[in-house]
Amino acid sequence: QRRVRIPHLLSMKEKGQKWAMLTAYDMYAAEIFDEAGIPVLLVGDSAGNNVYGFETTVPVTVDHLVPLCRAVTSAAKHAMVVADLPFGSYQASPQQALATATRFMKEGLAHAVKLEGGAAMVPEVELLVRAGIPVMGHIGFTPQSEHVLGGYRVQGRGAGAEKLMDDALALEAAGCFAVVMEMVPAPGARAVTEALHIPTIGIGAGPDCDAQVLVWQDMAGLRGGRAPRFVKKYADLRGTLTDAARAYAADVAAGTFPAEEHSFWE
Ligand code: KIV
Ligand code: NA
Repeated sequence: QRRVRIPHLLSMKEKGQKWAMLTAYDMYAAEIFDEAGIPVLLVGDSAGNNVYGFETTVPVTVDHLVPLCRAVTSAAKHAMVVADLPFGSYQASPQQALATATRFMKEGLAHAVKLEGGAAMVPEVELLVRAGIPVMGHIGFTPQSEHVLGGYRVQGRGAGAEKLMDDALALEAAGCFAVVMEMVPAPGARAVTEALHIPTIGIGAGPDCDAQVLVWQDMAGLRGGRAPRFVKKYADLRGTLTDAARAYAADVAAGTFPAEEHSFWE
């Protein structure tokens, strides 16, 4: 099986085949999801909250994501790997966006980049695409702008539905190969999905997007606390790892680990 490329994603949309994207930040996650047949892996700036212990994605830098991208791209044999452009690494100018995206592409860290923003990002998207860099858009709730948006809130309600559509159409016209829609009402996401030729990827955007994306630690139940409404937990990795750590510690305390077979006797 060869590397997933843009034509595969477009043809899945034509055939009405829905697909799943997951984030990945390290070797094992990338290897496992790749072997499970996930066609696109995102090295998200959600590494801020899921790897680095920040409260938001705002503090994440290119230097934070580069080693994670290297690990994911070397481990994923088939999946297309998309690198998120972090806050502050592309908004200053199209030239800044090109310099940042070029670093990810030239060092073989990713096969495409993702950036947040709609019509306002058209000059950046156009320059990247002209330079040969595939761009995934991201509209609706855009976490890097959470301070402007007033926190984690659903976008595209009421009159916002028109802006969502305008942003999506502008990104497609600028050359994006796909667009993420985050936390928007399902009917608006459906209208966008019908209007676009490129795939839409939803997170909290209802069932009618061409694809879905989740942060893997949310999907697999590694994260603690209350998950957002749009998350479905497919495993309880947090419970599994907690049990494993406790059982290991108890064995050590009881002197039952290491046993004979775990030891070298000569
Ligand atoms: O950083 C991220 O994980 C994302 C997805 C949720 C789309 O941007
Ligand atoms: Na992100």
